Amino acid sequence: MEKPAHGIERPLVIGEEVVVRIRGLKKAFGTNHVLRGFDMDLHQGENVMVLGKSGSGKSVLIKCIIGLLEPDAGIVDVLGQDMLALEHEALDKMRVRIGFLFQSNALYDSMTVRENLEFPMRRHMVKMNTAERQERVMRALADVGLEHTVDLMPSELSGGMRKRIGLARTLIMRPEIVLYDEPTTGLDPITSREIVELMLDLQREYGTSSILISHDLNVAKLAANQVIVLHEGTAHAQGTYEQLMHSTDPVVRRFFDSL
Ligand SMILES: Nc1ncnc2c1ncn2[C@@H]1O[C@H](COP(=O)(O)OP(=O)(O)O)[C@@H](O)[C@H]1O
Ligand SMILES: [Mg+2]
Repeated sequence: MEKPAHGIERPLVIGEEVVVRIRGLKKAFGTNHVLRGFDMDLHQGENVMVLGKSGSGKSVLIKCIIGLLEPDAGIVDVLGQDMLALEHEALDKMRVRIGFLFQSNALYDSMTVRENLEFPMRRHMVKMNTAERQERVMRALADVGLEHTVDLMPSELSGGMRKRIGLARTLIMRPEIVLYDEPTTGLDPITSREIVELMLDLQREYGTSSILISHDLNVAKLAANQVIVLHEGTAHAQGTYEQLMHSTDPVVRRFFDSL
């Protein structure tokens, strides 16, 4: 398919299959009730964005999905597996099928770009030989347009480049679902747009489904098929960007009116 001139195209083909199903998710820290019965569905090939202000529980939600935090109640079903029932080893296997890109990119400062990219493969694909690993590294770097950085240290890269390397490292494992935590936060508007374009290009190439967590409405506008507004621990509102743009709900309005 030819790309439109602006280079941005939301996923067009969305499957029937629900790849992430969350129901009644609750998580509190002491008296701080962060998630209070959150529900969402992600379909195959779809981009769902969870929009919420700072501190609303977006990162807690992602951590509950991948099993880094244990929810107090609810259902987290990913690719047909009950994530909350999985034991250590099974959970580890699922984490290969679910890629996540942390806000910080979580690159290891003392490792080169190559070593950073090899790291997840060494851990999870122990049977892969050196040549195959090298090939994957170079392919992943080519995907994000940064082949020339292979022997550099993360500290030698710009914020946008680090984000691209983080993306390459997430996708190198060929995850079926990718969770992006604030993919554009801290980047200037032009770099943000480039990162979103790249995410969408690679999503098309590898056929992934994504949950995007952000407070950035531009991300919603460019990339999301559905936007869920996380407010006071629940899915307060849901719709396309265009639907929410016309909402009269005061909570939804606050996001648009602050543009
Ligand atoms: N491990 C933790 N222990 C205690 N409180 C936490 C923990 N993680 C997050 N919180 C609290 O949960 C709330 C939501 O945090 P978070 O999900 O990081 O927000 P954001 O929407 O900005 O990503 C905040 O009040 C935060 O202080
Ligand atoms: Mg966060």
